[in-house]
Amino acid sequence: TGMFTYDPGFMSTGSCQSAITYIDGDKGELLYRGYPIEQLATQCDYLETCYLLLYGELPNDVQKKDFVGRVTNHTMVNEQMQFFLRGFRRDAHPMAVMTGLVGALSAFYHDSTDINNPEHREISAIRLIAKMPTLVSMAYKYSMGQPYMYPKNKLGYTSNFMHMMFATPCEEYEPNDVLVRAMDRIFILHADHEQNASTSTVRLCGSSGTNPFAAIAAGVACLWGPAHGGANEAALNMLEDIQRMGGVAKIGEFVAKVKDKNSNVKLMGFGHRVYKNYDPRAKLMRETCHEVLDALGLHNDPLFKLAMALEKVALEDEYFVSRKLYPNVDFYSGIVQRAIGIPVSLFTAIFALARTVGWIAQLNEMISDPEYKIGRPRQLYTGATRRDVQAIGQR
Ligand code: CMC
Repeated sequence: TGMFTYDPGFMSTGSCQSAITYIDGDKGELLYRGYPIEQLATQCDYLETCYLLLYGELPNDVQKKDFVGRVTNHTMVNEQMQFFLRGFRRDAHPMAVMTGLVGALSAFYHDSTDINNPEHREISAIRLIAKMPTLVSMAYKYSMGQPYMYPKNKLGYTSNFMHMMFATPCEEYEPNDVLVRAMDRIFILHADHEQNASTSTVRLCGSSGTNPFAAIAAGVACLWGPAHGGANEAALNMLEDIQRMGGVAKIGEFVAKVKDKNSNVKLMGFGHRVYKNYDPRAKLMRETCHEVLDALGLHNDPLFKLAMALEKVALEDEYFVSRKLYPNVDFYSGIVQRAIGIPVSLFTAIFALARTVGWIAQLNEMISDPEYKIGRPRQLYTGATRRDVQAIGQR
């Protein structure tokens, strides 16, 4: 290929150096800044994880208080944002709404538009982390035709999100510790995942020097797709389809369809570009699923039973074994979110909320790298060779 390597899908191209997230796909290991995801998910909360991803170390007490305080100061969005939101149809997909709202933030903060200025990036980071829960819950309330709930700053990050989602002016949200913890864990597990499609999009977009909020909006747009963040929604829809077909008894038939190369049906929530072993996030998610269903007295949830039976069949089937296809984080996260009361169409928006910190950390790292250049892939040209334009009557 001459001066450069042709590598569709970036199967073997390292696009950057990074010290943020480490994945060993064969072992099924995931580390944020060196810490195993299992320890972070069980011993830390989401804002500590955000601090770790952004600044490289876990915060001590004082640092945590300061960080939480800074984030909490920025939970409200400009009142104008609701007029922007109102331009959407009520039945707009929440990811369409989120792409628009996050993009719109870029028009509000004229004090911090320079992505090359570390102070501008810092305040944009805090604003984004603080405002994502507010925006996601506004998108939800709008779709329901209910009034938006303002953030309640005496609550923690995740309880506040649940408050904005589930409270109404007529009724307080009674926080349930198990559910808040489960939501917080979903945030931690989705916070970063090295150079996936949306993160690479944010880096590429940011490499032109664009507005920091615009770069994150590009990440939201990329995350929407069913091969990436949209897989959680697709996985739950798949389980519901199988359930409608007849549930556990129909697993064989469904798996046969997945294996038929002409069918174009995939087992959603299975397979990963990097993990060729059980995704460690899926293990934690399955555990959380048990906890949440127990707490709600839903241990007989037919969808969870179906998911476990489907996983078992797939893990024993030669098609999946030979291709090293294992459950990924999205296989169980939908069941957890559904039990918490999150509508299926909002799953990917919640993924975007959680991944925002990863996108920002990666953007910061790129811009601080002395070797940073605008991203500009090359191509193998396959079109016509040079030719001359004919007069319109002779074409
Ligand atoms: N169901 C059935 N077959 C599959 C699946 C699946 N979920 N995933 C991969 N395969 C097959 C694929 O058809 C191919 O078979 P063959 O070698 O016979 O052509 C082989 O396995 C290798 O797959 P690939 O498509 O070349 O792998 P990839 O690295 O390009 O794709 C993936 C990775 C995640 C896009 C893909 O596994 C997939 O579409 N999975 C379902 C969607 C999903 O769950 N995505 C969430 C990923 S984790 C969260 C996130 O990153 O957002």
